Order: sequence, then structure tokens, then C-alpha cells
Amino acid sequence: MTTATAPGKIILFGEHAVVYGQPAIAAPLSQVRATAVVENSPAPGIRLIAPDLGTDMLLDHAAPDDAVAAVVRHLQAAASLTQLPDLTITVSSQIPIAGGLGSGAAITAAVIRALAAHLGLAHLLSAAWVSDQTYEIEKIHHGTPSGIDNTVVAYERPVYFVRQQPCNRVEPFAVARPLRLLVADTGVSSSTKIVVGDVRRQWQANPTVFDAIFAGCGRIVAAARQAVEAGDVEKVGRLMTENHTLLQQMTVSCAELDDLVAAALAAGALGAKLSGAGRGGNMIALVEGEEGETAVSASTIVPGKGGISSQGTNGTAGVSLNWH
Ligand code: MEV
Repeated sequence: MTTATAPGKIILFGEHAVVYGQPAIAAPLSQVRATAVVENSPAPGIRLIAPDLGTDMLLDHAAPDDAVAAVVRHLQAAASLTQLPDLTITVSSQIPIAGGLGSGAAITAAVIRALAAHLGLAHLLSAAWVSDQTYEIEKIHHGTPSGIDNTVVAYERPVYFVRQQPCNRVEPFAVARPLRLLVADTGVSSSTKIVVGDVRRQWQANPTVFDAIFAGCGRIVAAARQAVEAGDVEKVGRLMTENHTLLQQMTVSCAELDDLVAAALAAGALGAKLSGAGRGGNMIALVEGEEGETAVSASTIVPGKGGISSQGTNGTAGVSLNWH
């Protein structure tokens, strides 16, 4: 039996604009993870089980766009394997689906890792290779992904990311003071593919307006990187809220996200914004660190319908972001 995992992620700055070549900053959410377990099977075929989704089927019967089936078929082709052995692949995830926290990329990366290791291909398993393979699957599901989700999930460290041809630019960077983030779920699920596609249509209809918004996001990300490296936490917070305003102008926020941002700011957060594709999903708020807190920052996922609380009532998960 071979088990592998991959973390969720948050986009701290620059979502959507990153698709158009602007920089973005993302960090892994290491305490919520997707897990894949691969076992040899006594029965013929490859059985795909996802208990969270209530699915249990043979690969041969899976729809062409089934997420896990697509990963298995892709890996078989990428590794030039003519035949796969009889297997059972079980996938589970603590990351909310369609919530902007990278659940799709994490499930893909976990299946790639577990399956490649189980098939004796562990020599392929660098973070770069996992990221590249995950990106190929992201393209099937999301149309025009920037590559930031697969990168942060596969490398599992904070990144400053620029989409570039022929190679994306990925830079680790120093974090002078820990950032303590609260992650709050609107309870509204949202399709990244639909929201990214809608932003593209608006950009095509109004290129001047949207290019100016994207450039504004790029300036915020550059300033945010400097603020993070300088330990200017107050400035990081202000820049998050400014980034949220630009995301509103892109029409990717929604009433639930705006309410969460307003509630976080009213409660004293240093800054707040939506994170990920928007139109639902999660809000992140930068809150003051605790006395004596050292290298590791902490965040809390508050699931459900939009309450701001550090003690969620229905399954709060404490999450540490290793920024150092
Ligand atoms: C999704 O996590 C981030 C987006 O910028 C899309 C992408 O970068 O591929 C909305």
C-alpha cells in the first residue's frame, strides 16, 4: 500500500491578474490535505474510490473528465507505461471542494505521488515533476490556469510566482515577521473554470479597463513582497484590502465575501480579501500575532455560512503556515 498527500493553498495576493502575466503570492495550507492510497487489487482493473464524493467505479467506466481517472490516464501516458497492474486507488480530502483552497490541485498531486511511487517511479517524483504533471491536469479542468496552484501545492512553500513562457518564474522569498491569517468559508461553492472564463470574456470586451486593473494588482503584489520581506505587517494588511477592491472591480467578489471582509475589518483585522477564484469560496484576513509567537504563523479555517470566529462550531481546523 502506498500513501501520499498534498496540501491546500491560499492566494495571498494577485489571483486572476496572475493569469495575465502579473505576479502573485501564494502559500500552502499544510494542515488541510488531500490523501491518495494506492493498493494492489485481487480483482481485475483499476478501481477508483472517493468516499467523500460517494463514488466507487472502475477506471474503464469513468467519464473522460473524471478528475482521478484523468490523473491515472495522464500518468500512464507520461511514464510511457503500456499497461497498469490491477489497483485500488482511494482518494480523500480535508480541503473544501470549490472553495478556492486548491482542492483540485491537491487531489491531483496526491494521486500522482502515490501512484508513481507505487509503480516504482519514485525517481520521477521531484516537486518540479509533480507540479508539471498537476498543471497538465489543471488545464483539463480549468482551461487557462496560470500554474500557481500546482506550483504551491507541489513545492509546499510560499512562492512569488510569475506566469512566463517558456518557463514560469517561481521565487521563494524571506518572511521577516510571521503572518497570522484567518481563513473563513462563505459556504458558497464556486467553479474556478467559470469565474476565470468570465473574467476572460470581460477582459476581451474591455481590455483597457481590465489591463489597468491587472496592472494595479501587479503593483500591489510587488509592494506586498517588499512589505512581507521588511516585516511591515500593517502594510501587508492594507495591501490585502486594496487587492480586494480590485477583485471587486473584476466582479469576482460577491455579497458573502464582501460581508466577511467587512466583518473582519470591523473586528480589527489588519486587512482582508477574497482568496482564489472568488464568487464564493474563502476569505482570508490578516490578524495580529499572539504575544511571544515565533517563527510559525497560524490560521484558522472557519467553515460554514460566514461567521467570523476563531472557534468554528462545525469542524474548525487549525492551520500553520510555515513561512520560514
Ligand atoms: C485560482 O486559485 C487562482 C486564479 O488566479 C486562477 C489561476 O491562477 O489559474 C483565479
